[in-house]
Amino acid sequence: MSCSIIGFGKIGQALAHAFARKNIEVTVASRRPPEALAPQARAIGPEVVAKSLQEALAADTIILAVPFAEHREVANALPNWEGKTIIDATNTFGVPPEELDGLPSSAFAAKAFTGAKLVKGFNHLVAATLAADPIVEVGHRVVFLSADDEDAVAPVAALARQLGFAPVKLGKLNEGGALVHARGRVWGQLIFQDLFKKEQ
Ligand SMILES: NC(=O)c1ccc[n+]([C@@H]2O[C@H](COP(=O)([O-])OP(=O)(O)OC[C@H]3O[C@@H](n4cnc5c(N)ncnc54)[C@H](OP(=O)(O)O)[C@@H]3O)[C@@H](O)[C@H]2O)c1
Repeated sequence: MSCSIIGFGKIGQALAHAFARKNIEVTVASRRPPEALAPQARAIGPEVVAKSLQEALAADTIILAVPFAEHREVANALPNWEGKTIIDATNTFGVPPEELDGLPSSAFAAKAFTGAKLVKGFNHLVAATLAADPIVEVGHRVVFLSADDEDAVAPVAALARQLGFAPVKLGKLNEGGALVHARGRVWGQLIFQDLFKKEQ
């Protein structure tokens, strides 16, 4: 599995730390050229490699860590998303539900990535918490995963485990997944819940 993080701000860097901690290579990209991201990438670890957006989109698993409104711009960068998995780490706090056609934000975003599988995950913690080592004395930090395509979740859960997290599957986006979505100005009940699981 090859992985990229699109967006190298607070969440992108937090996740890059998680990859570096486990010596797993990850590509990072944003609208800026790779040379602009390279010093910060190198500071996190040699596994974190800054590339152009187009090069980063060659990965089969792509973590979306951009402001929600930018998802379309990222989606437009490839004509076809067949065979790719998007991990949607974005949140839409404050966005009126009418602007999302009444859909959960990730279901709305999924429409732009035609042909891709989309899993919502790694979005429920503040960046500083997500950046910290997920393995602590009491167990492994929980990340919630939800998707309308059940087959898409297993490989993302495996990746989360490799990174040291304990994945918890919530089911479909508009069912359990609603617990980790912002709707209008209301956060889902599991957002910001920093939980740990004893056994993976
Ligand atoms: N901050 C948190 O604690 C937190 C927690 C959970 C979830 N989230 C969600 O995670 C997402 C990212 O938040 P953040 O706090 O990391 O934001 P941020 O610090 O502002 O970083 C956003 C990143 O996205 C890049 N970007 C923007 N538009 C882009 C585009 N069209 N194509 C490629 N890259 C683009 C920006 O870089 P360039 O300007 O160089 O393109 C920047 O690296 C948001 O959806 C947010 O709701 C944030």
